[in-house]
This record gives sequence, C-alpha cells and structure tokens, in this order.
Amino acid sequence: MRILGIETSCDETGVAIYDESQGLLANQLYSQVKLHSDYGGVVPELASRDHIRKTVPLIQAALAQSGLQAAEIDGVAYTAGPGLVGMLMVGATVGRALAYAWQVPAIAVHHMEGHLLAPMLEKHPPAFPFVALLVSGGHTQLIAVTGIGEYQLLGESIDDAAGEAFDKTAKLLGLDYPGGPMLSRLAQHGMAGRYKFPRPMTSQPGLSFSFSGLKTFAANTIRASADDPQTRADVARAFEEAVVETLMIKCQRALKLTGFERLVIAGGVSANQTLRTSFSNMMRKHGGEVFYARPEFCTDNGAMIAYAGMLRLQGGTPADLVVSVRSRWPLEALPALSI
Ligand code: KG4
Ligand code: ZN
Repeated sequence: MRILGIETSCDETGVAIYDESQGLLANQLYSQVKLHSDYGGVVPELASRDHIRKTVPLIQAALAQSGLQAAEIDGVAYTAGPGLVGMLMVGATVGRALAYAWQVPAIAVHHMEGHLLAPMLEKHPPAFPFVALLVSGGHTQLIAVTGIGEYQLLGESIDDAAGEAFDKTAKLLGLDYPGGPMLSRLAQHGMAGRYKFPRPMTSQPGLSFSFSGLKTFAANTIRASADDPQTRADVARAFEEAVVETLMIKCQRALKLTGFERLVIAGGVSANQTLRTSFSNMMRKHGGEVFYARPEFCTDNGAMIAYAGMLRLQGGTPADLVVSVRSRWPLEALPALSI
C-alpha cells in the first residue's frame, strides 16, 4: 500500500509518499518562513494563498522523486485538523479532489496523531504502551498511548503551548519568527546560573502545564538588566532550561502514574537539542527509553501525515465523501484501530 500525504495546517507545505513495505519513497517540504518573517508570525490569509501555489507542484515533485505514476497511489491522506480552517481547506480540497480523480480513498488525518506517530518512521520505533509528550506551536499535551487511536489525555497546557512560549520569548529577545530554533541557538552562548526562571506548576500535584508566565518573567528580567548580547543569551539559556526541566518533571510524573517505561516526544519543540540531551540523560538514569523523530520530522511535514493516513486506511476509517476540516479536534475523539 502506498499513500500520498499532504500537510497544509500551518506554515509548511509538506507532501510525501509512504510505502507500507519500502518506507518513505518521497518527501517534499516548502517552508513559508520568509513570507511571514516581516510580520513576526503566521499571517493565515497569506499562508493559505501560498499553500494554494505550492501544494500541486510539490505533489508533482513527490511523484517524480518516487518514480511512481499516479495510478500506483492507493490513498491520499491530508491534515484535516486541528488548525486554521483556511489553511486546512487547501490540503483537504486538493487531497479529496485527487483521491476522487484517482478513484482511491481519501483519509482525513489528525495533525497531532501525525506528530505522535512520527517517531515510528525511524529505524528503532517505540513499542506500545508509552507516554507521549506532544510539544508543538499550538499544543503541549501528555498522553497515555496503548495503541493506535488509544489515547488518554493525562494533562495539557492551560495557557501557552511550549512552542508558543519559545516564539514569544524569542520575540522579546529581538529574534525573528519563528523564534524557537533561534532562541535555542542563542542559549548556547548563555552563561548557566546567571538567571533562575520558575518551573511553573511543578510544586503542585498534577500534569497540567502553564507557560505564559515564563514569557512575562523573561520580559521583566530583560527590563531589569543591561541590554547587551550576553544578557540576551543568558536569558535565553535560563528560559530554555526552565521549559526543559518543567517538561522533564511532568514526564517523570506521567511515567510513574502509568507505570510505562517508554516515552515518546514529538512536535516542533522535540527538535530542540538541549531537550533531547536532557531527556536522554534522564531516561538513562530512570531506566526507561525515550524516542524522537529525526529533527526534520519533529516539525510539520508530509511524511507523518502519509504514515498516519496509511495506518488509518489499514484500520478501515477513510473520510466521508465531503471536504470537511476541524479547527478543534480532541485526540481522544479518534477511533481505536485493531492493527
Ligand atoms: O510541530 P510544529 O512544526 O508546528 C505546530 O504543529 O505547531 O511546531 C512548531 C513550533 C514552533 O513554536 C517552533 O518555534 C518550535 O516548534 N520549534 C522549536 C525548535 N524547532 C521548532 N522550539 C525550540 N527549539 C527548537 N529547536
Ligand atoms: Zn505541527
């Protein structure tokens, strides 16, 4: 079985082809970073228009890269939510139209299920059960995963997502959008221990997160300090350490609560090198194992959508014959698959 996957939920147009036995046959990505950088964030209308321009050429490029003909594709998967409707509609409309023209099933994929399953594209995939930490620009969630579609939400952010906190703090530090990776680069030059940021919601029990206070703490720290490059790097380092340590404390709690020994970290922030090193050390001590996707599959991409779409098609849940997308879509609403 070969699935074409289309991702247009945010600021990357991603298209990939996944083959059940051969793995990934094509992967194409177009980033809109330049388009939005003048505005300091994603402008939805510009994003939608750019997805319209890029989706079909990327599909053609993916077919060329794989050496396949359209007739060799067995299904078309597209991100159907959660996200902004204008952007989702581009991938959904193109995906559904192609599936109809090619007479194959169309599969509406949940973006966060795509992220959650992305580490399964790697050579050493995680086995069930595991705790998943999803850390993207829009979500911070801890989920107990016992199978495909068997997702129990253990806790989530009550305000900003981890990636959002990275981006907002980066903006305060004068960095361009998207600030997460740039803040991380700046943090490498920071001095450890000059500033100590809080670890929000760790002194009380539970698995909820709150990251909006860290951005305020960063703003106050910057205001109270001399405005020089070293200070900015020190703030970046203290902020990054606070986010990573807070995530680690909550993950340890979730592992203890569930009794699971495997942890999967997915979503854009899981590309962060400090996070990966810290979690790998923690899990080595803890006696468990941590799994990530390769960095380019942590952030948005078509490969994870093609892969999740293939599993959903194998499990027998293709989308109805309508183009519908969802701005809000709880992961727990997905049906479980017996594969
Ligand atoms: O998963 P993703 O590509 O898109 C969403 O589904 O939201 O995540 C994007 C988020 C952005 O907030 C971006 O700043 C953050 O992931 N991000 C990072 C890094 N790479 C991406 N944050 C920290 N360090 C990174 N290396
Ligand atoms: Zn994403």
